[in-house]
Amino acid sequence: MSTPPTHKPSSGVLATRERLSEVRYEIRGELARRARDLEAQGRSLIKLNIGNPGAFGFRAPPHLQQAITGDIDHTDPYTHQQGLPAAREAIAAAYARRGMPNAEADRVFLGNGVSELIDLSLRALLNPGDEVLVPSPDYPLWSAATILNDGRPVYYRCDPGNDFLPDPAEIETLVSSRTRAIVLINPNNPTGATYPRPLLERIVAIAAKHRLLLMVDEIYDQVLYDQATFEPVAPLAGEVPCITFSGLSKVHRACGWRVGWALLSGDGAAVGNLHHAMDLLGALRLCANVPGQYAIEAAVNGPDTISALCAPGGRLYETRRAVIEACAASEHLELVAPAGALYAFPAVVGAAAKGFDDHDFALELMESEGVLVVPGSSFNVPYRNHFRVTLLPEAATMREVFARIDRVLSRRAEAVSKVVPIKSKSRPAAA
Ligand SMILES: Cc1ncc(COP(=O)(O)O)c(C=O)c1O
Repeated sequence: MSTPPTHKPSSGVLATRERLSEVRYEIRGELARRARDLEAQGRSLIKLNIGNPGAFGFRAPPHLQQAITGDIDHTDPYTHQQGLPAAREAIAAAYARRGMPNAEADRVFLGNGVSELIDLSLRALLNPGDEVLVPSPDYPLWSAATILNDGRPVYYRCDPGNDFLPDPAEIETLVSSRTRAIVLINPNNPTGATYPRPLLERIVAIAAKHRLLLMVDEIYDQVLYDQATFEPVAPLAGEVPCITFSGLSKVHRACGWRVGWALLSGDGAAVGNLHHAMDLLGALRLCANVPGQYAIEAAVNGPDTISALCAPGGRLYETRRAVIEACAASEHLELVAPAGALYAFPAVVGAAAKGFDDHDFALELMESEGVLVVPGSSFNVPYRNHFRVTLLPEAATMREVFARIDRVLSRRAEAVSKVVPIKSKSRPAAA
C-alpha cells in the first residue's frame, strides 16, 4: 500500500485539512483505484466492495420511480431545509406506528443520503475532544465523520466470538467525562449482526444514566434473513435523546437518489438545542435533493418489496446461502452467518491465516483471480484476518467468487506448510 498523502504544507503545495490523514474510507480507496486501472487495461473484475444494489441489476420499485416522475414538475424549487412537509409527515407516521415517541414531522430531517445526516448531526453535537462510542467493526463513515467534526471515536468491541454482538458492560467502562454519544448500527454493516431487545435495553440504560445521545443507524432495518427480527431503538429509548437514521438506499434499492432521513426522538427539553443546531446546519446547505424526496411517501406507505428478496428463493437469500455454504465447505474460512443487511464478514483461519494480512490478500485476490473485496481492517478492527463481501451478486457468481477465494487461500496454506522454521542462535524469536 502506498503511504497516505501528506496534509502538511510544503513549498508550492496546497495544505489540506490535517485531520484527513486520520481518515480512511477503503471501500472506495486504493484497491478500488487499482481495480479501475485493471479494468482500463481490459481485465474483467467481480467487484464486491460496495453495497450498491443498482450496480448489481436491482432496480428501485416502480411505484417509487413513478412517484418521482409524476411530480417532477414540482421539483425545481428548494424545499424547507428539513425537507418536504408531506414526506416528513409520512416518515413520522410510519415511525409512530413502530412505537417511536414524539414522532412528528418537525423532528424529521431529510438529507442527501444517511451519509450527509451522519456528518450533519455529529457536526451539530461535537466540540473539540468530545468522544463518541463507535462499534468495532464499524461502517467507517461513522469514524471519519467523528474525526472530521473534531471528535474522537472510542471503539467498543463487537467480537466474532460473541456473534459480533457488543458487550454493554464494556461499553459502560468506556464512558468518560468527554463521551457524548453511543453509535449503534443495527442490522450491522459489515457483520450482519442484529441486536436482541435485552441487549439494546441495556445500552439504552447506559445512555440514560450518563446522559448520552443514542445515534442509531437503522438503514438495513428491513433486510432480515431466516428468523431474524429487528428491534428499533427509539421506542426503547423513550425520553432518552435518540437520532434514528434510515433512507431509500438499501431497503428500497435507490442509493443513487441520495435520500436519507434522521428522526430526533426523546424528551423535548433535552433535545431542544440539538434540534436547532441540526436545523441551522440543514439551512446552510439549503435542502436535500428534491426529486428524491418525492419518492418517500410512496416508499414508507407502499407495498413491502424487500422481504421476498430476503426469503428462501429470493435473490439476497440465495446469495447469502451460497456464502454460508461456501464458508462451511472451506477449510480456510469461518463465518458468523449474517442475520441482516447486505454483507458477509468471513474470517480466514487455519494454516492460511499464518502471517495473513488482509490488504495483501485482497490485492492478491484481485490481481490473480479478478475479485475485489474489502479488507476487514478497513472497518476499524484491530485484527487483520477478515474481509467483507456484499451479498448483492447472483448466487452463481458468489459460488464462483468463493471458489477463487479458496484457490488463493489454499496456495497460501500450502506455502506456509512448506516453510521450514529456521533456527537462529543470534536472532531473538519474533514477538
Ligand atoms: C451502515 C450504513 N450507514 C449509512 C450508509 C450510507 O447510506 P446512504 O446511501 O443513505 O448515504 C451506508 C451505506 O452503505 C451504510 O452501510
